[in-house]
Amino acid sequence: MAITIVLILLTTWLGAVAVAQKINITILHNATTQGAVCLDGSPPAYYFDRGFDAGVSNWIIYLQGGGWCENLNDCHYRTFQPAGSSKLMQGKTQFGGILNNTPQYNPDFYNWNRVWVNYCDGSSFTGDVEDVDPGNKLYFRGARILKAVLQDLSLKGLQNAKNAILSGSSAGGLATILNCDKFKAFFSNDSIKVKCVASAGFFINM
Ligand SMILES: *[C@@H]1O[C@H](CO)[C@@H](O)[C@H](O)[C@H]1NC(C)=O
Ligand SMILES: *[C@@H]1O[C@H](CO)[C@@H](O)[C@H](O)[C@H]1NC(C)=O
Repeated sequence: MAITIVLILLTTWLGAVAVAQKINITILHNATTQGAVCLDGSPPAYYFDRGFDAGVSNWIIYLQGGGWCENLNDCHYRTFQPAGSSKLMQGKTQFGGILNNTPQYNPDFYNWNRVWVNYCDGSSFTGDVEDVDPGNKLYFRGARILKAVLQDLSLKGLQNAKNAILSGSSAGGLATILNCDKFKAFFSNDSIKVKCVASAGFFINM
């Protein structure tokens, strides 16, 4: 009896592991030619799972959060973490929440093209500073990262989207607010519906 239960549990667990989707990282090596780099100068990266069925022309782009770095030491510290270097990012990830690929957990977006953009610039995808900090060779190029990511995704079908959502939480929610107009302007086709959904992105200065 006990063995049967253990076997059932094990089978269920193995089944869950087997269906959990693993998504490969995409590293934008050639984005460095336009100066789009993480804090440490490494190329930016994202995870992408292609849409299917009714969702093939719909896109949701999620900007990862993780606060800001607030001074040079703080930003330098991030270069030893995925938050500042694509060299340290996971080769594969799993999508959950609004990026999950099953209708059970994500009824609205499960079959959309789903993108998780890795946050490695330390300032909500806003930086566009040509100068490199001479002390630790830090780059502040978050705006260029988002631009390079959108350009790359446009080659994968984003340019022909019918619906497109920019989203993110925390520092990614703030990034959503700050980049929403640019995101809208990125699309040349006026018939596309563009929305921005910021989660926990409003930081009160107190
Ligand atoms: C993901 O990467 C592995 C190698 O690590 C490769 O074998 C596999 O085909 C890739 N999957 C996709 C969907 O590209
Ligand atoms: C970057 O390189 C990829 C292949 O690695 C290519 O598909 C893409 O067109 C290039 N993007 C740009 C903006 O040059």
